[in-house]
Amino acid sequence: MIHENTKMVDLIHRNYVLITVFSRFGISLGFGDKTIQQVCEEKNINIRFFLEIINSFLDHDYFPQEQLKSFPIKLIVDYLTITHQYYLGKTIPEIEEIISGEKGICYENKEHNYLLNNFFQEYKKELITHITREDELVFPYALQVEECFLQHKSTDTLFEKYGNYSIGHYLQAHDNIEEKLFDLKNIIIKYLPPPKNPELCYQVIVLLFNLEKDMNDHSRIEEKVFVPKVSMMEKVILNKNKK
Ligand SMILES: [Fe+2]
Ligand SMILES: [Fe+2]
Repeated sequence: MIHENTKMVDLIHRNYVLITVFSRFGISLGFGDKTIQQVCEEKNINIRFFLEIINSFLDHDYFPQEQLKSFPIKLIVDYLTITHQYYLGKTIPEIEEIISGEKGICYENKEHNYLLNNFFQEYKKELITHITREDELVFPYALQVEECFLQHKSTDTLFEKYGNYSIGHYLQAHDNIEEKLFDLKNIIIKYLPPPKNPELCYQVIVLLFNLEKDMNDHSRIEEKVFVPKVSMMEKVILNKNKK
């Protein structure tokens, strides 16, 4: 398990994908011998929250839901939102540049390039819809629920704005976009013929695997931490309203 005295450099050697997680906290490379605690203090980062995110990323069996649930929704929402921006602003364009951009000629046959690009564009569209729903509906709703909960406010404005919407609706419709990502990987690994440009294909595969790992972790935080926390607050504020 990672603790506050762990050196940042050791974390990266353990799993280099963490570099992207660090960037979401505004941390970049060049750590010297600094520990997690030193870096978090310098950057004014909630160290307990940082440790929970890192530990849950490194070890899927480590998931102290109770601990993570104790953090304000705003902190969790901010982290999830920055992650969304990272997917749409960085990871997806990076993959797109190879698959659809100028250098994106992975295959000899035009049709195969077209097929890959087509599937990727569909995936991208789904991802944007998924993320937009969370950013524009679910997260603002959750923040308002927390406001009612913490400030013992009436739920009237919440009902006015969202009607009978509840976090349960979100969970039910929280479609598994990782499945489509799995299919996208398989198109390259299994179904299309050997590429004309194996290095480019390899780059895409590495990016897709990293994205998949990152997104699994992201969805786990949404479903196992974010949703139960909002649901608990919903129950409290609704019960209060009935009295
Ligand atoms: Fe999300
Ligand atoms: Fe999601």
